[in-house]
Amino acid sequence: MIPLTLAEVAQATGGKLHDVPDPQALVTGPVVHDSRQVVPGALFAAVVGERVDGHDFAGRAVAEGAVAVLASRPVGVPAVVVDDVVAGLSRLAHAVTARTAGTTVVGLTGSAGKTSTKDLIAQLLGGLGPTVYTEGSFNNEIGFPLTALKVADSTRFLVLEMGARHKGDIAHLTGIVRPSIGLVLNVGTAHIGEFGSREGIAEAKGEMVEALPPEGCAVLNADDPLVRAMAARTQARVLLFGESAEAQIRGEDVRLDASGRPGFTLVTPSGSAPVQLRLYGEHHVSNALAAAAVATECGMDVNQLAVALGEAGSLSRWRMELTDRPDGVTVINDAYNANPDSMRAALRALAAIGGRGPGARRTWAVLGEMRELGEDSLAEHDAVGRLAVRLDIATLVAVGGREAACMELGARNEGSWGEESVLVSDVDAAIALLREQVAPGDVVLVKASRSVGLERVAEALLADGVVSNGAGA
Ligand SMILES: Nc1ncnc2c1ncn2[C@@H]1O[C@H](COP(=O)(O)OP(=O)(O)OP(=O)(O)O)[C@@H](O)[C@H]1O
Ligand SMILES: [Mg+2]
Repeated sequence: MIPLTLAEVAQATGGKLHDVPDPQALVTGPVVHDSRQVVPGALFAAVVGERVDGHDFAGRAVAEGAVAVLASRPVGVPAVVVDDVVAGLSRLAHAVTARTAGTTVVGLTGSAGKTSTKDLIAQLLGGLGPTVYTEGSFNNEIGFPLTALKVADSTRFLVLEMGARHKGDIAHLTGIVRPSIGLVLNVGTAHIGEFGSREGIAEAKGEMVEALPPEGCAVLNADDPLVRAMAARTQARVLLFGESAEAQIRGEDVRLDASGRPGFTLVTPSGSAPVQLRLYGEHHVSNALAAAAVATECGMDVNQLAVALGEAGSLSRWRMELTDRPDGVTVINDAYNANPDSMRAALRALAAIGGRGPGARRTWAVLGEMRELGEDSLAEHDAVGRLAVRLDIATLVAVGGREAACMELGARNEGSWGEESVLVSDVDAAIALLREQVAPGDVVLVKASRSVGLERVAEALLADGVVSNGAGA
């Protein structure tokens, strides 16, 4: 972090110093909310969580070298006392990032693919200069300011994932740290219950581009009409990405290679170049184009982009994570989350990995419910079951209740018979079935909404010693 005295921390947060012998003592960072992460020079934020109260760890944090504690009451050790620690963190993040004129802030949001895209952007921009970015999906009211507070004088890029559960969430975050490049990936149906409709979701996500300054850049998905329309809501310049003809950063001739990894021709104002991703699944094409657009805006040319995109791997787990067992069974763990688009992409990748003709491998799609789809839910589950059959997936194992039953019925109505589709009630039943029937050489995809917990299936299959192929995705 940028070094600040305790007096400056108090000023930035609107707090008061307590038990501080030297207001000029320097906080050099990091700012942490877990006392186990304290190092000398740190500021410890005493957050009150559901199970633990950070104030109980104030003494330990200072003993470990924290310069002071950001707290909501005096704690007997040096502290900056504020009304609300989380709000104090946000004010501090605001003050710190306002001082870093040399840092370009990139904000991104969307219904699906934020973390995957953020990880791609971080890898691309990392080639241009020191880059700070959200770890995993640490984008909540605590993770967001803590990430921003990692910026140092040398930081050239700060890449922030911004999630929205309610209207006003993105506006709140951009009020804390204002991006100059704002990316909106897509408007899907995640949390549609909260927002009422896809238009409601678009309304909320569009707050990203409303926050941009006139000299900034709104990076928008040309292939998603609700995102494309956000061009009217910003004073910033607009840069479009996608497969549509009007996209300035465009993917043409999209194809999957034999192992399910997408390739395409990247077309930019600086020319075009072939790109082959290491990530699995066609949905990453859109993510890669979005990342390429942001990196273009930051000064990368098409040849640099093609190389960097081809080298980029996954920095976050359970997203099309491919592992080969010693006996030749391949497990694709995509249990992080699921929506209709990513289900289709994952099934196509599975079919590509399985291959066709002599030498084809037996494919298993172990799929659970896609949550939060609202009124389209049953139709979407039916469509996934049908697609599995059309793609010639050998066996669909639908896991769960009504939605899973609907998926399995869709498969049967599309013409699956015998063992081509089965319905099991829960994760344990799926594990038992697979343990009994999966044979060397098979490929198993595991995917559902996060809360279904289907990663346990992948973990069980991999339990007996593994050889990772290293690429991840
Ligand atoms: N461009 C995309 N379109 C549709 N689905 C996608 C796309 N990119 C990723 N996904 C799917 O969404 C899941 C979550 O991906 P990722 O973690 O990148 O999204 P996220 O927006 O960060 O999610 P969260 O809201 O949980 O933070 C992946 O497992 C994948 O199935
Ligand atoms: Mg995320």
